[in-house]
Amino acid sequence: MIHKQDLAAERREYKQDELHRSDLPKEPLELFGVWLEQMLQTDALDPSAMILATVDKQLQPFQRTVLLKQVDQQGFVFFTNLKSRKAVHIEENAQVSLLFPWMELDRQVVVTGTAELVSRQDTQMYFNARPKESQIASWVSEQSKVIESREELEREFLEYQAEFANKTLEAPSFWGGYRIQPTSIEFWQGRPFRLHDRFLFKREQTKGDWSVERLAP
Ligand SMILES: Cc1cc2nc3c(=O)[nH]c(=O)nc-3n(C[C@H](O)[C@H](O)[C@H](O)COP(=O)(O)O)c2cc1C
Repeated sequence: MIHKQDLAAERREYKQDELHRSDLPKEPLELFGVWLEQMLQTDALDPSAMILATVDKQLQPFQRTVLLKQVDQQGFVFFTNLKSRKAVHIEENAQVSLLFPWMELDRQVVVTGTAELVSRQDTQMYFNARPKESQIASWVSEQSKVIESREELEREFLEYQAEFANKTLEAPSFWGGYRIQPTSIEFWQGRPFRLHDRFLFKREQTKGDWSVERLAP
């Protein structure tokens, strides 16, 4: 049992870095790229992990972790099952949010934007680069559906493994990537005494110039 007192005392000072207005590029993705590179140098187990938030028809938000697989001026890409809960949400409401929890560097980046499917060709290219076992898993897992047992899943996995031992697998039609085109990106750099640096980049449309404002911590 964790005592209330233990959590109340659970805190640390953030003093690894500072973020100044003069450090900010015009394009927030440039700064994102620098921070991501620095994260990849840390010993974080999943430096490319991001929390994806979607909203269902009843306006109930949901979150889950996914891995960032590409990022460029067009946006942030992850891959998933296109019949999963998240995909159903996105089909209904393409407005999503991403959060990069970069505690190793006392940093957080929060993105809002619009999700769109990546091309079939890009999906297939990424699929080809996955280990065979992951390729098979994307065929056998009806992600987010209720299943009877783990055994059922493993049985199907073994069947695929045997059948495709010497064959190449295509990406399933129900599997693919989403690209999040950002409309806002907020950079948070922890500072001592909770006087953190926060800068919010915004643009009206998914294309166009960015404005930037400092937010109170
Ligand atoms: C570190 C980590 C990385 C993950 N990466 C992915 C991913 O890239 N794609 C994916 O579909 N699920 C990924 N998952 C699983 C998701 O968090 C989630 O359980 C799954 O996608 C089903 O979500 P949904 O039912 O809301 O659609 C990851 C989970 C963790 C903890």
